[in-house]
Amino acid sequence: MSQVYLNGVFLPLEEARVPVLDRGFLFGDGVYEVIPVYGRKPLALEAHLDRLEHSLAGIRLDNPLVRTAWVSLLERLIQEATTDDQSLYLQVTRGVAPRDHGFPLQVPPTVFAMSKPLTPVPPAWVQAGVAAVTRVDDRWLHCDLKTTALLANVLLRQQALDEGAVECLLLRTGFLTEGAASNVVLVVEGVLCSPPRNHLLLAGITLDLVLHLAVQLGIAHAERPIREEELRSAEEIWITSSTREMVPVTRLDGKPVGTGQPGPIGLRLLSAYQALKSHG
Ligand code: PDD
Repeated sequence: MSQVYLNGVFLPLEEARVPVLDRGFLFGDGVYEVIPVYGRKPLALEAHLDRLEHSLAGIRLDNPLVRTAWVSLLERLIQEATTDDQSLYLQVTRGVAPRDHGFPLQVPPTVFAMSKPLTPVPPAWVQAGVAAVTRVDDRWLHCDLKTTALLANVLLRQQALDEGAVECLLLRTGFLTEGAASNVVLVVEGVLCSPPRNHLLLAGITLDLVLHLAVQLGIAHAERPIREEELRSAEEIWITSSTREMVPVTRLDGKPVGTGQPGPIGLRLLSAYQALKSHG
């Protein structure tokens, strides 16, 4: 059984315990990261640790570990895991204290990290694409922070699952933001587009990698606000995330996207992403 890391100690998952007064449990007062690992090599680790810094600063929590300490503890989890391809999860909460909304004084944060096998993306998802639904983005205004307070995302994702879809695409005041747990990149009139990276969505590391690949492949990209009508008439829609890589959305709210098949621009990017994964 793989070991997990909790507050400086490596121990079996079954033995890892957090007190009920942990502010992560009581308030969702914490931040997290999910890092994909291929062949025991983490993909874009530095970018994930940079985003962790951003999230911690955004909730006014000091980073409990220096960069080298994060890298070495994650490396140990990677090496001790049972599979070569993994999903690394890490979480920092504001620690254990009597329940009170205000920050506790001088309380050490809770630091947790684990590795689990990376569930491969079902080949049918890539071959035929998946269904998605749209909903109003009713989350808060700090979606650039990767916080553990995910209830809105959980409820939105579940609405997609309830309709037999895989993801819920979110619209705020008539503009696309992101998916419940993914970013969205689309092709509108032949141009690869994605919504502006601001406080309304998470700056996805996978999307960043995909956009770098687009530059290398000479695929033009525009980062700009995307109106609901443009989403609905897009030639291609793709969702990106560390655990799902790039998945084509071929049905949106029951209607076909473009031809109803995964489109050529996304497929080029996906094959470049697969190569990047294997070579790091
Ligand atoms: N979530 N937007 C949201 C709201 C997300 O939760 C995620 C990923 C993304 C994609 O970010 P990245 O490419 O850096 O994984 C965008 C992870 C996988 C999760 O919560 O499990």
